[in-house]
Amino acid sequence: MKLIIFGPPGAGKGTYANFLQERMGIQKISTGDLLRKEVKEGTQIGKKAKEYMDKGQLVPDELVIEVLKKELERIGKDNFILDGFPRTVSQAQKLDEMTKIDGLILIRIPEEILVEKLAGRRICSNPNCAAIYNVASIDKKIGRVHYYLPPMPPKKEGVCDKCGSPLIQRDDDKPEVIKERLKVYKKDSRPLLSYYRGKIPFIIIVPNRPPEEVIDRLIKKLEKLKEKS
Ligand code: AP5
Repeated sequence: MKLIIFGPPGAGKGTYANFLQERMGIQKISTGDLLRKEVKEGTQIGKKAKEYMDKGQLVPDELVIEVLKKELERIGKDNFILDGFPRTVSQAQKLDEMTKIDGLILIRIPEEILVEKLAGRRICSNPNCAAIYNVASIDKKIGRVHYYLPPMPPKKEGVCDKCGSPLIQRDDDKPEVIKERLKVYKKDSRPLLSYYRGKIPFIIIVPNRPPEEVIDRLIKKLEKLKEKS
């Protein structure tokens, strides 16, 4: 299957894409992770991308598309989930030229929760691992939905369970940068929902419970989609 996982910053795109990779063997392709890797390796693309990423702004299309194409060629298969791409209507049009997408997973979550989760996020400093953790503890009702999101800490504080590298906070998880990322999401990325509505199936998830529960619900929905296609 070829899927897009879509939602605002901090919605959980990376977390659920990692689970789908582990549980269903669907390869995760995160343009954010790919760009952070370029930054860490100090490549030309990384140097240019960092200027935008540190401010919470979108990296120019041509750079993002170059890293995405390189990754698609590297993995060379048709079973993937795009996390963080497309982010603009023009990126979606480019993607349409490259391939046909089977469905869009839409994560619906209130802004108040996002901001708390982003402040509590810790990631693995090894760009080839990119595991995600969280130290925030959320237990509150918003509207009619009860959000119970306990922390997702590593077994040993500050150390990645998977590869043993130190955990870090992302440079763009500072409060002023988070504000800008949310603004950019509303202006440039949310219009993508109108672009895709009616074109491809939407699979909607409300992540109001620990990820293991949310992922079970999501996998059931994806299996139904697979049966239909
Ligand atoms: P990117 O890395 O894509 O960032 P983002 O879209 O802002 O999304 P995040 O990674 O912040 O959040 P997420 O939804 O993956 O949430 P997560 O799973 O970590 O992009 C970064 C930058 O790169 C952009 O600002 C831009 O500059 C550039 N860029 C990337 N792609 C681009 C493109 N296509 N075009 C142009 N520029 C591009 O979850 C958040 C936290 O919540 C985690 O700590 C997680 O552990 C926790 N959590 C999740 N679910 C639960 C749960 N159920 N219970 C408890 N905790 C949970």
